[in-house]
Amino acid sequence: MNTTENKIYYITTPIYYVNDVPHIGHAYTTVAADVMARYQRLRGREVFFLTGTDEHGQKIEKTAAARGLSAQELVDEVVERFRHLWEVLNISNDDFIRTSEERHHKAVSAFFRRVKEAGKIYLGHYEDWYCVPCETFWTEGQLENGNCPECGRPAEKVKEESYFFAMSTFQQQLLDYIEEHPGFIQPKSKRNEILGFLREELRDLSISRCSFKWGIPVPDDPKHVIYVWFDALINYLTAAGYPDDMERFERLWPADVHLIGKDILRFHAVYWPTFLFAAGLPLPKKVFAHGWWTVEGEKMSKSVGNVVDPEAVVEEYGVDAFRYFLLREVPFGLDGDFSQDAIRGRINSELANDLGNLLSRTVSMVKKYRQREIPVAAPDGEYYREFAQLNAEVCDQVAVAMDELSFNKMLAAAWRLVERCNRFIDERAPWALAKDESKAAELDEVLYCVLESLRLLSLYLYPVMPEKAEQMATQLGQPAPLAQRGSEVFAWGGLHGGQVAKGKPLFPRLD
Ligand code: MSP
Repeated sequence: MNTTENKIYYITTPIYYVNDVPHIGHAYTTVAADVMARYQRLRGREVFFLTGTDEHGQKIEKTAAARGLSAQELVDEVVERFRHLWEVLNISNDDFIRTSEERHHKAVSAFFRRVKEAGKIYLGHYEDWYCVPCETFWTEGQLENGNCPECGRPAEKVKEESYFFAMSTFQQQLLDYIEEHPGFIQPKSKRNEILGFLREELRDLSISRCSFKWGIPVPDDPKHVIYVWFDALINYLTAAGYPDDMERFERLWPADVHLIGKDILRFHAVYWPTFLFAAGLPLPKKVFAHGWWTVEGEKMSKSVGNVVDPEAVVEEYGVDAFRYFLLREVPFGLDGDFSQDAIRGRINSELANDLGNLLSRTVSMVKKYRQREIPVAAPDGEYYREFAQLNAEVCDQVAVAMDELSFNKMLAAAWRLVERCNRFIDERAPWALAKDESKAAELDEVLYCVLESLRLLSLYLYPVMPEKAEQMATQLGQPAPLAQRGSEVFAWGGLHGGQVAKGKPLFPRLD
């Protein structure tokens, strides 16, 4: 199987339903995945970052019919909104998968056959309740006054011939697997939720429908269409090359992490692993479920009219400030609230005041006191050693936080450097040192420590704020962050000469 050097770091987002306009919730998962992908690339790993769209199902079929379009025409139109948003948000995905693509049909058919040959798919009869908007089945007991417990809308009763996946036969195997792999489902609270769920009896899963056509036909029985989740989850295999390019597949699979929202945890942490067990394929290394955003304290909903359009936020505050806010505001895994006050507050204090100001005052001082030349500092200096030590700590904290997908902790660690630098400048007062010739070496050391901290900050912040990090590097006269990739670049003392160049303020203050 995969040796570590050969393994490509493989990260995924959910594939988004095309029946909705993209909002802050979709942006969140995708930005988080982008940050992780960029971080791994910066560390020197080869990365495969996948996102895409989930295009089949009864709902699309109905919407298309109502608009007088074919389902394919409808999805071809709406998929563009997602593609466009990912450009606006500077998403560096390596592939974009659509479930209506030929490669995906092939993969799902091959997977279905394989599971059937393994004796885990059988034909039976299905009688249950179905919520069309949520594409979810419910038992009688789960309904609330006849309505879907998830969205509150009426559920429909369905009885038809159906293929079933023998999910119940994997209950114990899955429980054992989760017990033996504590990192498989994260965060811990979500892992416990799934363990709790698995203490109840697991039912077999109906995985085909005859009541509509827009989907992937069951191999050898095309009056059946494969259930959307059985279809959608397999996208993670399709994009990795399954089943035609197994050599590539071996380098990619298993995925290192599936990032998802908490509402689709059960599909990823119960259904998906049992499908993979049945097909004899390894499980993804990690499934991480993040929380949900409310807006100004309220649940986001079309009827309330408070759905946050990420493009409008970017328009107002800039893409990097938005990305920063999403990851800094809420510990990844918990719920959070989006509000104008909160984002403006963070931009003014952390981005404009702390970081932006630090860069601009430093560059100005080097310009004024050292004719733009980055000074040299002796490595045995007191300040030099203090900063080398601080950076070593920050560097470790960043690595640990990123391993845990604790983006807010990673940023908090980076801000230790920002804050120390600002305080250090106030304490050492370079403007006073500059007046005294005998303090020239001390001034060099002070400036060097701050400049080198800023170079390191451009690297730590690059995954979250790629454009601003690049501007930082340019003002510091250094190569772009990605041009410095590898693990050594995070070590203190990498700054060797160059000339600073004053640029526009990184983050102008908002009134
Ligand atoms: N198509 C399925 C996923 C299939 S993956 C094999 C789906 N699509 S979705 O478009 O409805 O949702 C995609 C993601 O958006 C989910 O991870 C969901 O948690 C996330 N969010 C939707 N609303 C959200 C918030 N208000 N806040 C945060 N994330 C939210 O589910």
